[in-house]
Amino acid sequence: MCGIVGYTGSQAAQPILVEGLTRLEYRGYDSAGVAIQNGDGIDVVHRKGKVAELAHTLAHFDYEGTCGIGHTRWATHGKPSEANAHPHTSCAGDIAVVHNGIIENFMELREELEVRGHRFTSDTDTEVVAHLIEEAYRERAAAGAPDLLGAVADATARVVGAYGLAVICANEPGTIVVTRKDSPIVVGQGAHGGYVASDIIALIDATRDVVVLADGQFAKLRPESIAYFDEAGRSIEPTVTHVDWDLDMAEKGGYPDFMLKEIHEQPRVIRDTLAGRLVNGALTIDELDMTPEELDLIDRVYVIACGTSYHAGLIAKNLIEGWARIPTEVEVASEFRYRNPIITPSTLVVAVSQSGETADTLAAIRDARVKGAKVFGITNVVGSPVARESDGVIYTKANKEIAVASTKSFLGQVVSLTLLAMMLAQSQGKLRTAEVKLLFRELADTAEQVETILSNEAAIEAAAEACKDATSALFIGRGMGSAVSYEGALKLKEISYLHAEAYAAGEMKHGPIALLEEGFPVIAIATKSPVYDKVISNLQESRARGAMIVAIATEGDEDICNHADHVIHIPPVRDAFSAITASVPLQLFARAIALARGCDVDQPRNLAKSVTVE
Ligand code: F6R
Repeated sequence: MCGIVGYTGSQAAQPILVEGLTRLEYRGYDSAGVAIQNGDGIDVVHRKGKVAELAHTLAHFDYEGTCGIGHTRWATHGKPSEANAHPHTSCAGDIAVVHNGIIENFMELREELEVRGHRFTSDTDTEVVAHLIEEAYRERAAAGAPDLLGAVADATARVVGAYGLAVICANEPGTIVVTRKDSPIVVGQGAHGGYVASDIIALIDATRDVVVLADGQFAKLRPESIAYFDEAGRSIEPTVTHVDWDLDMAEKGGYPDFMLKEIHEQPRVIRDTLAGRLVNGALTIDELDMTPEELDLIDRVYVIACGTSYHAGLIAKNLIEGWARIPTEVEVASEFRYRNPIITPSTLVVAVSQSGETADTLAAIRDARVKGAKVFGITNVVGSPVARESDGVIYTKANKEIAVASTKSFLGQVVSLTLLAMMLAQSQGKLRTAEVKLLFRELADTAEQVETILSNEAAIEAAAEACKDATSALFIGRGMGSAVSYEGALKLKEISYLHAEAYAAGEMKHGPIALLEEGFPVIAIATKSPVYDKVISNLQESRARGAMIVAIATEGDEDICNHADHVIHIPPVRDAFSAITASVPLQLFARAIALARGCDVDQPRNLAKSVTVE
């Protein structure tokens, strides 16, 4: 979610930290800060806004300290503000922490620490870590063995969630302790000291030989050496990786473009979006800010959005109506705002927007609220207008999306909407606790299933090669598959400029079938579902007219090979979750065709990442 840097060595830390943070800013950040050991204390400076703001402030101090940590934040808990910016410190200010990830049990830890007298100054989950380390350090000191590394290990043993951590302590000058779980930490020894970062890009100027920490491992950086430890505190030999990347490659994490990098981040997005949502067997979305009674009263849902976010809404309709049995309409925001939809106090309007600032979606939110609806936002940007103007909000944990075409934020939206559908069904008594638990587990499994799809691109490449010279393509499916096909067609046309349309497969014979001729690509979502046989009939009709069929099918379904020219197998999932898995090969398919046609997949023509005009 955020960026971490750290340095200990023979040089002033301040410019090295600022340079590292600037390198990480390409991800898009809302606040930044550093903690630098100076004399026998730690100086902390934070600023809301860009790293340049922080650099400007730091120029007045010009700290000489040679050990420090820094952070650029992409807000998850608590709005972007100076108080919520990292580093966070202990009560005594002698321990400073920067953190990437999400501490799922932070509320209970915070309550417990407050009872023991700790004072908190931010809304973040991270601050509990500083206080936990403070307690552990004091206990070890009282026992005659003060040890920052041990205290960090004690603290992380209490934490549930994901973390990449870098910690300094006034009593141990020149030492940085780092550790991680499900959030990257990279360490390297340069000519002038030890460096740490959450991303190789921040340290490739200092060294090309890096150690990527594994989950549970620790590193203790000193100016002249770095020591590595396993979970049990035993010393280990690190595996050193040599990187040859130039700056551009490093920014893209070694991927050739941001789109591919972001497609590959999707398993992480699924895991982060689900983290902390199932508490004692019950689904919790505190941000909804609605009582169970209010949720129980909802009798109509509108999902309003534009573009890809609208397609996430189409998927949600199937789920909300299927599980919660609440009538749900999905509407593009630019239409919704100019008609007179039926809204009552028991109507829930769900506004979906990656950027959180799409003009039509915002206008529709305002209109719906004036008409008396409760509005719930789903967005990727903390503190964005959609978040501010909605009654409640879920943040998709996609992290900043740089490629113009939405991929990981779409998947984050679909997972968030799935949670919302389950929540509504749970509140209205349509899903029992055991059913919610089972669904949640299967939803969580989709992260691994997406990983499997991502590791198996050969069939997608072959299908793309066969379709790349077409002038037009049709995407078809039924049920969930029809919603997915709309997104597949949009992805293809926006990045490859190949005309593509999506149709509910049953509609083919009512018109679009006239388009079919020898070699015309028809991309079908033909995963195992209650409407599988119907989709197969549509494939046969298309093939009989010469169409070239590309089928997205379920692993183990070999019969599909009799009906399609190219088959892309994906792992079996419950139909309700098939949109999550089936969307991923279509993203890769669109990208492969766009590249084959010589297009810039990250910045397609005529498009902007955020559409703030009508
Ligand atoms: C397509 C795409 C757009 C956006 C649309 C809405 O890949 O990214 O169609 O989905 O412009 O934007 P948000 O979600 O920011 O409201």
